[in-house]
Amino acid sequence: MDKLLIEGGHRLQGEAEMSGAKNAALPILCAALLTREPLTLTNVPQLNDIGTMLKLLAQMGVAVQRDGPVVTLDASGLNNPLAPYEMVKTMRASILVLGPLVARCGEAKVSLPGGCAIGARPVDQHIKGLTAMGADIAVEHGYVVARTSRLRGARLFTDMVTVTGTENLMMAAVLAEGETVIENAAREPEVVDLANCLVAMGARISGAGSDVIRIQGVERLHGATHRIMPDRIETGTYLCAAAATGGEIRLTGTSAAYLDAVVDKLMDAGCDIRTEKSPSFEAIVLRAPQRLKAVSIRTAPYPAFPTDMQAQFMAINALAEGTSIIRETIFENRFMHAVELARLGADIRIDGNTAVVQGVAQLDGATVMATDLRASAGLIIAGLVARGETVIERIYHLDRGYERIEQKLTALGATVRRLS
Ligand code: UD1
Repeated sequence: MDKLLIEGGHRLQGEAEMSGAKNAALPILCAALLTREPLTLTNVPQLNDIGTMLKLLAQMGVAVQRDGPVVTLDASGLNNPLAPYEMVKTMRASILVLGPLVARCGEAKVSLPGGCAIGARPVDQHIKGLTAMGADIAVEHGYVVARTSRLRGARLFTDMVTVTGTENLMMAAVLAEGETVIENAAREPEVVDLANCLVAMGARISGAGSDVIRIQGVERLHGATHRIMPDRIETGTYLCAAAATGGEIRLTGTSAAYLDAVVDKLMDAGCDIRTEKSPSFEAIVLRAPQRLKAVSIRTAPYPAFPTDMQAQFMAINALAEGTSIIRETIFENRFMHAVELARLGADIRIDGNTAVVQGVAQLDGATVMATDLRASAGLIIAGLVARGETVIERIYHLDRGYERIEQKLTALGATVRRLS
C-alpha cells in the first residue's frame, strides 16, 4: 500500500491550478443515465472515485469515452440497471445511480452502501422520497430493489439536509409526471451545478441553491455539454496548507464564491485573502502570518462551515496561538484524525461531537494513518509543518479525492514523496 513521506518545515509559495469538483462530477456523471443522447462533461477531475463511477456506469451498458478531463457518456445502450455490492462498497456516492435508473428504466437494483469510517450514513431519505413518488421499493439481501411504471411528482420533505439525497430525488423528478417539490433541500453549490447540467439537458428546475427546489417533469431529456464547477474543498485544503506553513499562494481555476465560510475563518486566523479574475473562473491569493490565531468552527450544511474542511482546520488549529473549539454536527464519528494528530504532538481533547484544541508551538514528524479522505488532508497539512519526517499510511483515501496532490504540493515548494 502506498505511503506519503513528507519533510516538514517548507513554506508553501507559488501557484496551483484547482481541479473540477469531485462531489459535483459524481452526480453529474449519473445524470447521463437519464437520456439516450450523449452527455459531454469537461473539467472532470482524474480521481479514483471518478474511475469507480465510470466503471459502474459502463457495466450498466453506458458507453464511456474519456480524454483527460473530458468525458462523454452515451447511455442509449443502458441495459443493466444494477449497482453491485463490490462497486458500491468502495464508494458511497454509487447510490446516486438509484434515482436516475428508476426514472429512466422503471427499475433498479442498487446495493446498500453500508456504513463507513465517519459514520453510519443511512440512505433512508433517498428511499422515502422515491417511495413518495410512487416507486415500489424493497430492501432485499442488502440491495435496494425499486420498481415503477412511471414516477409521479410529489411534495417531498427530507428529515435532515442531505446532499446526495437531494441530488438523487432531483434526478428522479426530472422525468416524473407532474411537479415535484423538494423541501429542506441541500443548498450546496454541487446541487446547483447538477441542476444547471440537468437544465442544459432539457429539465425544468427552479430554486436550486435554496431549500425549496421545484421540478416540472418532462417526457425526455437530451444530450448536452457541461463544465464541472471547481472543487471548493480542494481549494480550501490548499488554502489551509499554505496558511499553516506561513506561505503565500495563488490558486487558479477556482472561485471564492463557494468558500465564504472557509475564507472568513482563515481571515479570522490572520490570513490576508483576495480574489483576482483569471481566464478560468477566479484566482484566490492568500498570504499567511508567521503564526495563525486559533479559530473555532461548527460544521453545518451549506452555506455554513463544511464538514469536509473540519480535519484541515483541526490541523491548523493544532499549531495556532490559543484554544479553539471544533463542533462536528453532520457526522457522528469524524474525529479520527485527532488521535493521529496527537501522535505528531497536537493537544486535542474530544468530548462527543466537540474537540478542544490547545495550540502548541511545534509538531514533530511521526508515522500516522489516514482514516478517511479529508482526515488524510488534515494529516498532510500537519506533516507539512511538523519538524522532520512524517509518513502517512493508507493514502489510497487521498487518491479518491485529490488530483495529483504530490505534484501540486511539490510545485508549491513542499517536499513530498510517494513510497510504493
Ligand atoms: C455529501 C458529500 C460529502 C459531505 C457530505 C456533507 C458527496 C458525494 N459527498 O455526502 O463529501 O461530507 O455531503 O456535506 O457529495 N443521512 C441520513 N439519511 C439519509 C441521508 C443522509 O440519516 O438518507 C444523514 C447522514 O448520515 C449524515 C447527514 O444526513 O449524518 C448528512 O449526510 P449527506 O448530506 O447525505 O451526506 P452525503 O450526501 O452522503
